[in-house]
Amino acid sequence: MSESPNAARAKVASQLQVNLISPNHLQENAAKLREIGRTFISDTISVPTPEMYTYAVNATLGDDVYSEPTMLALEAHMAKVSGKEAALFMPSGTMSNQIALRTHLKQPPYTILCDHRAHIYKYEAGGSAFHSGAAVTPVIPANGHHLTLPDVQANAILSDDIHIAPTEVISLENTLNGTIFPQEEIIAISKWAHANDVKMHLDGARIWHVAAETGTSLDELCQPFDTVSLCFSKGLGAPIGSCLVGPAAFIKKARWFRKLFGGGMRQTGILAGAAAYALTHNFPKLAQTHALAQTLEAGLKEIGVRITSGAETCMVFYDPSTVGITYDEIADCASELEEPLVLGGSRLVVHIQTTPEAVQDFLSIVRTLAEEKKAAGFVPSADASASAPTDVYLRRVPKTK
Ligand SMILES: Cc1ncc(COP(=O)(O)O)c(C=O)c1O
Repeated sequence: MSESPNAARAKVASQLQVNLISPNHLQENAAKLREIGRTFISDTISVPTPEMYTYAVNATLGDDVYSEPTMLALEAHMAKVSGKEAALFMPSGTMSNQIALRTHLKQPPYTILCDHRAHIYKYEAGGSAFHSGAAVTPVIPANGHHLTLPDVQANAILSDDIHIAPTEVISLENTLNGTIFPQEEIIAISKWAHANDVKMHLDGARIWHVAAETGTSLDELCQPFDTVSLCFSKGLGAPIGSCLVGPAAFIKKARWFRKLFGGGMRQTGILAGAAAYALTHNFPKLAQTHALAQTLEAGLKEIGVRITSGAETCMVFYDPSTVGITYDEIADCASELEEPLVLGGSRLVVHIQTTPEAVQDFLSIVRTLAEEKKAAGFVPSADASASAPTDVYLRRVPKTK
């Protein structure tokens, strides 16, 4: 006898059933949170807290492709605080930057000018070529810190010579590797760019840190730019999301591209709620993370480690070869601790969930190794010639015990 429709449906239902929540989820997540507090590879690993979730689940239940009230309120808030006409929530910082560039760049040939370390150039999978057909002029800042107007003027292409692709967008990043771009230099570049009909975009994934460190309003920081991408999911600790801000007509077109790119989302109220919680409760914690990064830098300096990029905000880049140590030796010791530390190469990122104990444990590993090397005859040098690796995505995973 053949199976009844009800029995067949029940069979499909039972095949689809799945329970993904571990019976030990409370302990496992508590352990994960401890690991996050001891992980220096990035601030993207910071996690939503129960308080953030509790707030966010009360958001409205609209469909964002039609119109989601909490999301619309977040977008209106972001437009207001950034001093722009409109805002658009994006699933990621990469999509936010790439849609901004795609919306600016209409008719090739054209070039984007940026710092040679820029995320849009190095870490967005070649997206500007793929999505916008754009060439990129990656510029090395003469001062080693940030681009200046002379750097831009020396590298921008304004000619209508048919052999070359003119510069149509200057894309800056603030912070860049944790460093603060001086606002007066941004203003000078912007004035020159606009006088030459070149658009200004800012990858402001971590602009919050500039505001927190300098007390400058978001509005003032965004003012020199036509468009700005802001991320909620890095220093601010929200689970997902970025926001693109700019002129109303631009954002309307960007919303169209977001749909085309497959980024039209549905019940996003909960994401807007998490972002609002992050703005309200996590932004005020950033000053604390900067202080912790400064403790890290001061401790390393005291041991004799060379700082290749100091703690202007939440990141420190270091070179331990001055005391005879390699990154691998530090990472090996870190992974052998009872509660391991998770480290990348030369980059240390402090975030709102980093614990002061993790910083002290890290410093004590470096101190002990430096003392061992000295005892074994290494002569510490103030200017070791070995240069620090710059690949920020180099990651060491702790050995499993
Ligand atoms: C400066 C900067 N811009 C953009 C992004 C891209 O953000 P997402 O990972 O959300 O795509 C990142 C990611 O870490 C970043 O550091």
